Amino acid sequence: MIKAFDKPIYVTRPYLPKLELFCDGLKDIWDSHWLTNNGPILKRYARELANYFETDNVCLFNNGTLALQIGLQGMGISGEVITTPFTFVATTHALFWNKIRPVFVDIEPDYYTLDPEKVEAAITPWTTAILAVHVFGHPCNVNVLADIARRHNLKLIYDAAHAFGVRVGNRSLAHFGDMSMFSFHATKLYHSLEGGMLTFQDSGLKSIFDYLKNFGFESEVEVVMPGTNAKMNEMQALMGSMMLGYLDKLIEKRRKITEIYRQRLNDISGIRLPPSLPADITYNYAYMPIEVHEKEFGMSRDELYEELKKYNIFARRYFYPLICDYACYRSVSVKDPLTVARLVASRVLTLPIYYDLSFDDVQRICDIIIILQSKESNRQSTRVATNI
Ligand SMILES: Cc1ncc(COP(=O)(O)O)c(C=O)c1O
Repeated sequence: MIKAFDKPIYVTRPYLPKLELFCDGLKDIWDSHWLTNNGPILKRYARELANYFETDNVCLFNNGTLALQIGLQGMGISGEVITTPFTFVATTHALFWNKIRPVFVDIEPDYYTLDPEKVEAAITPWTTAILAVHVFGHPCNVNVLADIARRHNLKLIYDAAHAFGVRVGNRSLAHFGDMSMFSFHATKLYHSLEGGMLTFQDSGLKSIFDYLKNFGFESEVEVVMPGTNAKMNEMQALMGSMMLGYLDKLIEKRRKITEIYRQRLNDISGIRLPPSLPADITYNYAYMPIEVHEKEFGMSRDELYEELKKYNIFARRYFYPLICDYACYRSVSVKDPLTVARLVASRVLTLPIYYDLSFDDVQRICDIIIILQSKESNRQSTRVATNI
């Protein structure tokens, strides 16, 4: 019999640098008394990120949601935007706050990113942009989407909240599309406590984003646009800067955890894992999604999710429900039947993955999933036998 974990195992747990090191960094902030408003640490951090992403076109924000919202505003996106319903709700909220109508289209079944064929079919005279999500860090079909955007004269924007560190053909994802948003939220593989970043191709956007995130101030006595307050502060920048130094080891540990999950769960009937990514993609192992196919597995995704809780394992149903099924978006008309997205949302479960999760604990989570399945199939065969 396998015992429940003594302490809760959540789907993620933020990595933190050594407290003494962070305190050393805090000392500079205390000495300078400069807490926010484009301080010295933020400026240094922006340069480090520019270096990492191999572009000067970066702009930092206090979170990813406001980054995306301001990005859309600064680019002047309006009318209709084609997007995915299989994402975190902030993707759609950023459209809503810009009075843009979301047009939800289906995802593809392997990696759950926007299905380019469905995108093309959903374009209308009001479409101005595509907002695709590199969901779970799986890169979208960037080449096909770029081709569609070019042919229809649409802006191509990526919600890359999950995709820090992902590369396609050895190029950072920041180089694809017109603009990308990265989230540095505490639950992400890489974080700055909270934080967000835009990367973009048109360097003219930089000053617009800078105005918009700082009330539109141009000088002490001039405000050039009605901006908001979305600035990253010095403590966020300090954490983000320190976390860059740990990134490789964080990704490597996640890679090894993923390998164990894949080895242990791959052949379990009724569990489906996303296929391995093509060789030209450098992945970040941000999430560990599985699909639970009820008939073959013997229990539904929701049953497994509840059973795991009894063992103190708190998996998450990312992304269920679909965005268009939330109360605030139910009135949005959806033409695409969203066949794949609906199926995936009903089957998906993301398993715990984070730096501090031990390999033994990953093995134990797999043991528990396997035991739950065999218990359920025994129960079912007993039920069948009794019926006979
Ligand atoms: C896909 C996606 N988009 C946007 C966001 C919003 O980012 P933030 O939490 O930094 O505002 C998140 C996560 O939080 C996300 O997962």
